[in-house]
Amino acid sequence: MRPDKENLATLGVSSQAVHGGNVMDVTTGAVRTPLVMANSYRLPDDPEDMDWSSPDGLVYTRNAGHNQVCLERKLAAIEGGEAAAAFATGVAALHSVFFTFLKSGDHIVVGDVTYEAVWRLFAELLPERYGIQASFVNMGDLEAVRKAIKPNTKLIHTESIGNPTTKVADIEGLAGIAKEHGILLSVDATFTPPPFFHALSKGADLVVHSLTKYINGHGDAMGGIVIGSKELIGRIKHDALVDLGAVISPFNAWLIMRGSVTLPLRIRQHLATAEKVATYLDSDDRIAYVYYPGLPSHPQHELARRQFEGKGFGAVMAFAIKGCSDVQNRFVAKLKVITSAVSIGHDESLIVHVGPEARGGSEHYPKEFLEYGHLRLSIGLEDADDLIKDISAALDETFRK
Ligand SMILES: Cc1ncc(COP(=O)(O)O)c(C=O)c1O
Repeated sequence: MRPDKENLATLGVSSQAVHGGNVMDVTTGAVRTPLVMANSYRLPDDPEDMDWSSPDGLVYTRNAGHNQVCLERKLAAIEGGEAAAAFATGVAALHSVFFTFLKSGDHIVVGDVTYEAVWRLFAELLPERYGIQASFVNMGDLEAVRKAIKPNTKLIHTESIGNPTTKVADIEGLAGIAKEHGILLSVDATFTPPPFFHALSKGADLVVHSLTKYINGHGDAMGGIVIGSKELIGRIKHDALVDLGAVISPFNAWLIMRGSVTLPLRIRQHLATAEKVATYLDSDDRIAYVYYPGLPSHPQHELARRQFEGKGFGAVMAFAIKGCSDVQNRFVAKLKVITSAVSIGHDESLIVHVGPEARGGSEHYPKEFLEYGHLRLSIGLEDADDLIKDISAALDETFRK
């Protein structure tokens, strides 16, 4: 299987997103990679010496499938990594990193704000079942991270922008600490997809994305990917793909491959619209608080400005209306353009209301989150004016006497 553009590494990100991993179909001449719905591939004439559980080469789709391999090539190119391993979901991709690089008795330093599933893995499941210990640390505080490293620490894991508080991690600083201690840094960059941010270029060893979000971008498929050096990705595939089995389906790989062609275009629109909506929210005195790294009031605004090199500040924000949980719910019910649903990075804007009750890790949330709860808003591709009008009209209705 030969990719059509062998000069991929020399192309810009938009060109890579179009051409990366695309393989013309030799039987029909179709110029786009076809969907190959096959479990098994023809064996060589003499399969005697074959490594049956190798992820190299097309043998069985749990090891490697045509659409999966094409997707891995495209995403490794646009993230600027040597290799990639695709999985069924973002959580499966995260778990592949932890499963491969941690064993009983090891210790990990994890961000104190993380996606729920990662929180539960390190607060409960991995310590209780496998004796893996975790310290949850503020990734904006490099001194605290340095202090948390122990002789048995093997990995630092953080989100580039934390879900849901939008706390920003200093990736270059963390990479420096990881190198000093000869350990790995993995970054969940789901909130900051390329070409907005390239965590590998800031020194991360592994970058993880939930493909379910911006990279697919259309809210119709789930997937996850880990990107890094050939050596590290080879270890992940060897240990956590074939024998755990959370492989991406050919159809989802094909859908995400198609969705990701427009990622560079889409992400520019997401970022520009998010800044406008956050600025509007910040100016309305019916809003109790807004957490968005692009606002000067955000605790890591300066870090975000430096780290994201003026390209933007992400497209997710957390805020609350002045009032109790019922007020937040009333507001959400009045929205007509923005949809009340979980997830982020879709073409449509999504909002989810999370009340102030304690959740995994919420003791590390800013105090306003604990007082009012929060509305997590993921900005989609609609016109900024329509989103602002929708929010403003819903606020008027919420407060109408
Ligand atoms: C930052 C982050 N990482 C990982 C995930 C998990 O991705 P998936 O739902 O594809 O398993 C999510 C899901 O919301 C997320 O927000």
